[in-house]
Amino acid sequence: MKHEIFETNIGLLIIFTMIAISIGGLVEITPLFYINDTVEDVRRADGTQAVRPYTPLEQRGRDIYTREGCYNCHSQMIRPFRDEALRYGHYSLAAESQYDHPFQWGSKRTGPDLARVGGKYSDTWHVKHLVRPKSVVPESIMPNYPWLLENDLDYSDIQARMEALKKVGVPYSLTQEEYDSNVKQFGKAVADKLDITRADENLVSEAQDNNRDGIPSRITEMDALVAYLQMLGTLIDFKAHDEHEFIKAR
Ligand code: HEC
Repeated sequence: MKHEIFETNIGLLIIFTMIAISIGGLVEITPLFYINDTVEDVRRADGTQAVRPYTPLEQRGRDIYTREGCYNCHSQMIRPFRDEALRYGHYSLAAESQYDHPFQWGSKRTGPDLARVGGKYSDTWHVKHLVRPKSVVPESIMPNYPWLLENDLDYSDIQARMEALKKVGVPYSLTQEEYDSNVKQFGKAVADKLDITRADENLVSEAQDNNRDGIPSRITEMDALVAYLQMLGTLIDFKAHDEHEFIKAR
């Protein structure tokens, strides 16, 4: 076959270009489904998994993050470049978003990356910042979200939400067997929080114990969103891991 045949026939050129790209794509993507350490297996000192699914309160906070479109201005993925690591901390691991549905990686940074914002500021700072960003960062162009403090958190459907996430692979537990397997995987304290039947009481006690919005008598949307922001990027203690440990998964 002569090259000219493709170069003078646009239809053939399109078809063969697509075939070439598909083969290239398959060669790159297919192995990822078969290599176990594509998602890093990060353990704590006691042998349990470092990365866990979100607690019911954090999950509601995450839903609000998605609802408000925070991803339009904030990414949640630190790329493996020196400048990013210097500014935001260790680059993001695949393991860290393995329970995320939908992902919040984002594609735009009008504001900074939030993948490791957990623990960077106090709860009070976050509350002030979300109500009116200019009150703490005068040059900020981030919008005000005052209703987060006004709205009571609706958690009436938290169990249904967890069941939906369970269907797409998040290991929330319903049966005793699933609970036992979570105890083995994450330890008892975490397994208790992943139990769907106890979701409401877990959510209420987490919100009341931490009182992140500063209003003890109510559970607001602010409680949930700040609980979510404060745990971002905190699950893995990178100081406890060797610098090169995660390289093989890249
Ligand atoms: C129009 C773009 C925009 C939107 C939408 C937006 N932000 Fe921001 N955000 C910014 C900018 C710009 C900054 C940097 C200035 C500042 O700290 O306010 C910022 C800063 C932040 C910070 C501090 C980060 C750091 O490391 O200092 C947090 C936390 C944050 N935003 C959370 C949120 C949350 C949660 C939402 C959704 C409820 C949101 N933002 C929506 C633009 C935005």
